[in-house]
Amino acid sequence: MEQTTNQKKVILSGIQPTGVFTLGNYLGAIRNWVVLQEEYRCAYMIADLHSITVRQEPAKLRQQILSAFATLLACGIDPEKSLVFIQSQVPQHAELSWVLSCYTQFGELSRMTQFKDKSAKHADNVNAGLFTYPALMAADILLYQADLVPVGVDQKQHLELTRDVAVRFNNAYSDTFTLPEPYIPKVGAKIMSLADPTKKMSKSDENPNGFVTILDGPDVIIRKFKRAVTDSDTRVCYAEGKDGINNLMTIYSVVTGKTLDEVEREFEGKGYGDFKLAVGEAVSDHLRPVREEHKRLLADKAYLEQVYSEGARRAQQIAQRTLSKVYRKVGFVPVK
Ligand code: TRP
Repeated sequence: MEQTTNQKKVILSGIQPTGVFTLGNYLGAIRNWVVLQEEYRCAYMIADLHSITVRQEPAKLRQQILSAFATLLACGIDPEKSLVFIQSQVPQHAELSWVLSCYTQFGELSRMTQFKDKSAKHADNVNAGLFTYPALMAADILLYQADLVPVGVDQKQHLELTRDVAVRFNNAYSDTFTLPEPYIPKVGAKIMSLADPTKKMSKSDENPNGFVTILDGPDVIIRKFKRAVTDSDTRVCYAEGKDGINNLMTIYSVVTGKTLDEVEREFEGKGYGDFKLAVGEAVSDHLRPVREEHKRLLADKAYLEQVYSEGARRAQQIAQRTLSKVYRKVGFVPVK
C-alpha cells in the first residue's frame, strides 16, 4: 500500500464482523483477496463501523472483530504484502464519511435496495446510520484512492453511488478522488445456502443448517452437508433445476480443484448420500489449516495486537493524505 512510484493498481475491500465467516465468504471472496495480493496493492479491512447499523452486543462484537481479523490472516492475507486493518481504528473513515454525506442526496440513498431490505427486516431500528451507510462505504474506498473494489453483486449499487459522489466532488473542486471500478474476480464462486440453494450462503442466515463456517469442526461440517437440501433425482450432474446439487458440485470442484465433468464422472453410479459425505469431508480437509491457524492466532494476543495496531497506523497515514486534501478543498482551516 505504500504510495511509491510503482504502478500497481490499488484494491480495497471490506467485510463486516457480524458473525463467523462462512464457506461462502471464503470461497467467494477471501480466497480471491489472497490471490490479488500478488498483483495489486491491496487494503483489506474489518468493517466494524458498518456493523453497528444493526444492534450488536458489545462483548460479542469485540470478540467477533478480533476473530474476523484473525480469520483474514489465517486465510492467507499477509500483513507484509497488504494493508490489513480494523476500520474503527482509523478515524478518517468517519470523518470523510460526514463530508461525503453532504455530497450525497437523500433521493440517492432512498433508492438503495439494501437500505430498503434492511429497513424492512429491522423495522424497529431504521436508524440514520443504516440510511447513510453508503457514504461511509464511499469514504472507505475513496480514502485509499482505490482503483478496484472486489464486491459481490449486492454491493454493486453502493459502488456506483461511490463513483457518482466522487465525480460530483471532483467536479465541484478539482480532481481529488480516483474513480473506483467493481472488480469481478476471475476465480471465485457464488456459494448458495445448504438449506435453500436458491439463496446465497449468508453468515446472518437464521437457519444454521444453511451455512458452514470457516471454523466449524469436521463433525459439524459433515452433518450439515449430509442434510443439504437437494432434489428427488439421483444422478450427480450439473443441470438446470438442480440448484442443490449444482451448489454441492461447485463447492466440491473448488475445494478439490477438479472440473465439474470430473466430479460427475467420479460419482457416476453413486447416490447423493455418498456424494454429500465426500463434499463434507473435502470441505473439512480444505478448511483444516485455516481453522488451526485461526485458533493459534487468536491465542497469540500480543501478535494480533501488533498486527492490527501497525495496520491502523499505516492506514491512518494514507487516509489522512486524502482527508487533508478534502478538508482544504472544502474550505476548512487547518491546525497550525
Ligand atoms: N458494505 C460491505 C458489505 O456489507 C462491506 C464494506 C464496507 C465494503 N466498506 C467496504 C466492501 C468498502 C468493499 C469496499 O459487504
